[in-house]
Amino acid sequence: MMTVQSPATPTEWAAYYQLRYEVLRQPWQQPPGSEIADDDAASTTTHALLLAPDGQALGVGRLHPSGAGQGQLRFMAVAPAAQGQGVGRRILAFLETAARRQRLRELVLHAREEAVPFYERLGYTVVAPSHLLFGVIPHFLMRKQLPDE
Ligand SMILES: CC(C)(COP(=O)(O)OP(=O)(O)OC[C@H]1O[C@@H](n2cnc3c(N)ncnc32)[C@H](O)[C@@H]1OP(=O)(O)O)[C@@H](O)C(=O)NCCC(=O)NCCS
Repeated sequence: MMTVQSPATPTEWAAYYQLRYEVLRQPWQQPPGSEIADDDAASTTTHALLLAPDGQALGVGRLHPSGAGQGQLRFMAVAPAAQGQGVGRRILAFLETAARRQRLRELVLHAREEAVPFYERLGYTVVAPSHLLFGVIPHFLMRKQLPDE
């Protein structure tokens, strides 16, 4: 079984961005490159990647500091064929561990409506409806307090 890691080599970064694009951008006809965020390269941003043995990405996600004691999760995506098998749970666990090591006390995220039950299962609660992505995907602001180390 592969372990969740941060992408390190150019091949791993390519697999990471490929999955982001395929799951979160391509289905809505967004152009290549739209999967890249300006602060991806910031030293304070933590990236999570789970690779299959063939080098394809099974799951990705990222964390960045978003305020005093607070972090934000973004770009969580699991390959369609690998969904429902615990990959998302493992990506989230990796990022939550990273957040606790950074002494963050709270995590927030904007969940796609479809993903809300996944985050609820993992201890997040809906705070309020947020934005509409690409004019069609309702999002909900969600939050989780992190336990002390
Ligand atoms: C949402 C997503 C990241 C979840 O990852 P996943 O690997 O499919 O989820 P897991 O298998 O790790 O599920 C973890 C738990 O959440 C539950 N869960 C996952 N999706 C669920 C859903 N839609 N409804 C209810 N429960 C769900 C699982 O049953 C599991 O609970 P269990 O361990 O008690 O059985 C993934 O399905 C995905 O990439 N979806 C498309 C893109 C997307 O919406 N990304 C999030 C953007 S905010």
